[in-house]
Amino acid sequence: MYQQNRLVYLSGLLLCLFITVISSFSCNKAPKNQTYTIGFSQCTGLDLWRKTMLNEMKTELSLHPGVNFIYADAHGDSKTQVSQVSKMLRDKIDLLIISPNEAQPLTPIVDEAYQNNIPVIIIDRKTSSSLYTAYIGADNYELGKLAGHYLGTTHKGNLNLVEVMGLPGSSPAIERDRGFMDGIKQFPNIHVKTKIYGDWLKANAEKQLLKIKDKLNDVNAIFAHNDNMALGTRTVLNSIKSVKPVKVIGVDALPGIGGGMEMVDNKLIDASLVYPTSGKEAIVTAFKILNKEPFLRENILQSLVIDSTNVQLMKMQVNKINSQQNDIIKQQSLLKEQQLVYKSQQVVLNIIVILLVMAIVSGGLAFYSLMENRKINKSLEAKNQEIQLQRNQLIEMSAKAQAATEARLNFFTNVTHEFRTPLTLMLSPLNDMLKDEKLSDIAGNGLKMVNQNAFRLLKLVNQLIDYRKIEVDKNTIKASENNIVAYVRDIIESFRFHAKKLKIQFYLVPTEKNIPVWFDVNMLDKVFFNLFSNAIKFISGEGAIKVYIRRDKDFVYVDIHDNGVGISEEDAALIFDQFYQADNAPRVGSGIGLSLSKEIILLHHGCIEVTTKKWEGTTFKITLPLGDAHLNDNEKTENKDTWPNMDEQSKAYQADIDNLQTDREIHLGAEPKELSILLVEDNADLLQYLCQKFSEHFEVFTAADGNQAFTQAYEKVPDIIISDVVLPGYSGKEIVQRLKTDLRTSHIPVILLTAQSSDEQKISGMHSLADLYISKPFNFDYLLAGVQNLLKNRKILREHYSSDITGPEKLTAAKTLDKKFINDFAGIVEKNIANENFSIEDICRLIGISRIQLYRKIKALLGCTVNEYILTRRLKKASYLLINENLSIAEITYQVGFSSPNYFSTAFKAKYGCPPSEYKHSKVNG
Ligand code: FRU
Repeated sequence: MYQQNRLVYLSGLLLCLFITVISSFSCNKAPKNQTYTIGFSQCTGLDLWRKTMLNEMKTELSLHPGVNFIYADAHGDSKTQVSQVSKMLRDKIDLLIISPNEAQPLTPIVDEAYQNNIPVIIIDRKTSSSLYTAYIGADNYELGKLAGHYLGTTHKGNLNLVEVMGLPGSSPAIERDRGFMDGIKQFPNIHVKTKIYGDWLKANAEKQLLKIKDKLNDVNAIFAHNDNMALGTRTVLNSIKSVKPVKVIGVDALPGIGGGMEMVDNKLIDASLVYPTSGKEAIVTAFKILNKEPFLRENILQSLVIDSTNVQLMKMQVNKINSQQNDIIKQQSLLKEQQLVYKSQQVVLNIIVILLVMAIVSGGLAFYSLMENRKINKSLEAKNQEIQLQRNQLIEMSAKAQAATEARLNFFTNVTHEFRTPLTLMLSPLNDMLKDEKLSDIAGNGLKMVNQNAFRLLKLVNQLIDYRKIEVDKNTIKASENNIVAYVRDIIESFRFHAKKLKIQFYLVPTEKNIPVWFDVNMLDKVFFNLFSNAIKFISGEGAIKVYIRRDKDFVYVDIHDNGVGISEEDAALIFDQFYQADNAPRVGSGIGLSLSKEIILLHHGCIEVTTKKWEGTTFKITLPLGDAHLNDNEKTENKDTWPNMDEQSKAYQADIDNLQTDREIHLGAEPKELSILLVEDNADLLQYLCQKFSEHFEVFTAADGNQAFTQAYEKVPDIIISDVVLPGYSGKEIVQRLKTDLRTSHIPVILLTAQSSDEQKISGMHSLADLYISKPFNFDYLLAGVQNLLKNRKILREHYSSDITGPEKLTAAKTLDKKFINDFAGIVEKNIANENFSIEDICRLIGISRIQLYRKIKALLGCTVNEYILTRRLKKASYLLINENLSIAEITYQVGFSSPNYFSTAFKAKYGCPPSEYKHSKVNG
């Protein structure tokens, strides 16, 4: 299982790793996605040349998806252009492309951008500063020079020329003019008649040319700084009919409709110089700068003259280039489509690969778990076989055990049956003997005891037989309809005599005189016998037992309530268990009675419950169904027998009660004797026997276990204790140990009785500080002799203590304790001898024992009462003072704690036979 989990975990991990690798691989394939913002500030955007430039830029930008391109058209206004560039700088552009409207006004803002580390690409027109990153465009000076050279080389005669210039402050206008003037220097036939500014615009050029209309008659050449202005001059020239043929040259030579090439081809102008728009180059350079790749600062584009000699060729080339360009665009869009297809195929492929790997991993797992399952199945099979084998062995063994149990039970039942006959045979002569007064006088209680115990044995035997019949032989009831009130009353009557003797009142409280119930008359009585005898046993002194009978709808309820000692909740829960005996129950019987009662009630389809409260009483509740619908034919009998003689039946149960009676008589009736004995024994019979025997000589106290023994010993402080060794709770040895090391009881001699008779056991008993160890079975006279001997020794010891002699002999722990006690006691008395208010309570408080314990201990150890001892000590001291000190009688009276000289004299005379004055006289004078 653990291995399987580990495999699943590993394969999961591998799968995750694989997916991560795949996804990172697909990410690597994606183009770099760096986002740049490029700002393009155009001086004017409406003419064809500028539109061409912008288109070129956009085409190139399409190769760089994700770039943020900001375009601003200043419409030929320098101020507008400055504010547009400022805004771009605020918008944090990464690079500025600018074609400045005029050089001077735009210089500060372009310088600012450059100084703020924003790369600046100047395109076509320039600023007045050299603070830029790159320049892209044709060399306008060279272009002007080329124009001049072209005119000079293509025209032989005089040329009277008008120069139509661009915007005054714009760099191409300035440079083209300078170049042109230098270019024509070598051609003396070329005369520049006048210069006008057309501001790069056709309309302006026309307007300015019309202003010099009068001067145009001998003009035969015009150099316009761009094709638009050239076309404007042609329009004006055509409108003036008198003007001779004029050669018109422009700049730009744009291909396509409306461009300079078409103008040349259509003979609207004579020539045009190519001025490249350079939109593509600007974007290419921009990315080189942004991507920190090498680039050229000055990118001067080539120019050439287009005129009637090469215009066709140029047009063809341009067309070809255009068609190639279109092809490229088409291919680009095709490529894009392909890329999309590729991307989607790549996604599909990735998914397929992932699924494949997952399939392989799951397949592996499935195979692995198949293998594991096979292994587990094999081991399970083996275990199954083993279990099967063990089960068969168990069945065999239990069959044997059952047979053995059966045999034992049969034997047990047979023996039990065998007991019944001799018991019955014993009981009837016993009955006769008890009736014989003479014999009774001789045998006394012994005969009575034999009779009681024979009955108890008979009850036990009967209960066992009944139990066996129900439990093993599955005997059922033979029920007939009877009046349960009369039946219960009969049983109560059989107990009344004994209950009365124990001062227990028996009440029957039925709600009706006649309540017919179906029950087995020979069985149900056992339930009531048991419950009634138990109730009597639970009542320790005087008390009452109340039996309530009532019917309600389909049931009859019999509640038996006693106001006895009750039982604890734990005991109540187990009370119907087989052979259970509650702690407080007097130790009579086997504990089978209540479980037998329950079985009998169950056979009657009824139920029995108990409610009880410790020290308050117990109630047993019996519920029996009314009618006979609940009984099958087997459980009923036709013969309506009269029920058995309850007096006879109850005899066996009375025996237990008789025992109690004897116990209580012993406790209550006997006169207090001079010596007392505590008997600790859990066997009720033996205890009773010992009680009886010792009560002739002693006041007898009894205890059935260690706790009771401690209570009795501390309360009663007996003169001697006899204890069994094996007891519930504390053992006899533990009892001795504790009593001998307690100041209150350390002086009491203890005899241990036990069935453990080996020498080692006896020695171990002695080590426990016991004074004597007698093994069972014992002879009572021997035990009595032991008791007397120990008491005699105590007397010797008493003399030893009273004589105040401390010998060198080693004392046992208990004796050391007693010695110390006597010393303490004597010391306290000595210290307080002058204190007339000194009392026994003071001694008890100082030593820490009760009055009775002090009294008993002093009596046992010193053989006198505490008061006798104090008086003796006072008088002894008085006699000493009379002889040795010259004190008056009155002084001595108070020094020895007497309240008056008269009382002192009386007490002294009682002890020494003469009054104190006479005593002094006789002793002092001889
Ligand atoms: C377009 C244009 C072109 C000329 C260039 C000079 O706006 O006028 O015709 O060659 O600008 O900057």
